[in-house]
Amino acid sequence: MKRDDTVILETTLPNLNLFKRGKVRDVYEFGGNLVFIATDRISVFDVVVPTGIPCKGKVLTALSEFWFDKLSHIIPSHFITSKIEDMGEGLTPFDDVLGRTIKDVLAGRTMLVKKTQPLPVECVVRGYLAGSGYKEYLEAGHIQDVELPAGLKQSEKLSEPIFTPATKAENGHDENIPVSRMIDLVGADVARQAIDKSMAIFKEAGEYALERGIIIADAKFEWGLLGGELILIDEVFTPDSSRFWPLESYSPGHPQPSFDKQYVRDYLESTGWDKTPPAPPLPDNVVEKTTEKYLEAYRLLTGKELA
Ligand SMILES: Nc1ncnc2c1ncn2[C@@H]1O[C@H](COP(=O)(O)OP(=O)(O)O)[C@@H](O)[C@H]1O
Ligand SMILES: [Mg+2]
Repeated sequence: MKRDDTVILETTLPNLNLFKRGKVRDVYEFGGNLVFIATDRISVFDVVVPTGIPCKGKVLTALSEFWFDKLSHIIPSHFITSKIEDMGEGLTPFDDVLGRTIKDVLAGRTMLVKKTQPLPVECVVRGYLAGSGYKEYLEAGHIQDVELPAGLKQSEKLSEPIFTPATKAENGHDENIPVSRMIDLVGADVARQAIDKSMAIFKEAGEYALERGIIIADAKFEWGLLGGELILIDEVFTPDSSRFWPLESYSPGHPQPSFDKQYVRDYLESTGWDKTPPAPPLPDNVVEKTTEKYLEAYRLLTGKELA
């Protein structure tokens, strides 16, 4: 199968109200549900880069669908379907300004999902010490209200996974908060459920990924309330929402290469860009290598070829 390298950077769907344009997704309201489209945008250091990554949106969508299905015996999710033809009347065929049909634009990168009331916190589980967790540990010796033993190295495996919630920052970086603050925000009962469910899926997915040569160092989940029930929303265990490390090169004591965004980060660092928008465009070789890493993540985790 020839790889489809069509890049979708932004969508405009006539007749549907835009619910939200995030860094990566364009989300539309559709008959009480949401049309959830992963574009090929990539964000690095929390800034969206002007160059798209072919296949990225499709990998994020297919991988999330894979995990929603795999984890469905533990938790319900917002996923309804990824088949355009099953999304219902109203997603009528159209040609956009470039003459693309709705299928060209949406196929493979779109899910119909249940619209929920998202919890105002990011649920982060860490099995290894990295990123903002490591930074806080270095400075304070703990991460918010989670105590940790002294002398842990960067990227070291923790004896047990820990739960470290963060605020959802509309702009800029999320901020770690103590569980007590999460309880203030969502209530003790909902907080307990979100924590238990996050830990349960992290454990299950972590064991599965490890057998396939990928360490899931940490992962971010979003949960939403629907009719009183807490369901998993957004994306799950994708390279964008989790830290994936190749098992074969893992060695604690220093940072591990990012599975997917390393080439983009290295390139942008080499340009001397100051990490404020706008970001410079990416050269073809950086784009191609990044596409290959996203496809590799999909292949390793699912055992299937996406393109
Ligand atoms: N089922 C859902 N119901 C309501 N909101 C959702 C649902 N799933 C995801 N979202 C929201 O849609 C947005 C997804 O877009 P994305 O590009 O990932 O945003 P961000 O830049 O915040 O990461 C997020 O704000 C997320 O909270
Ligand atoms: Mg997101």
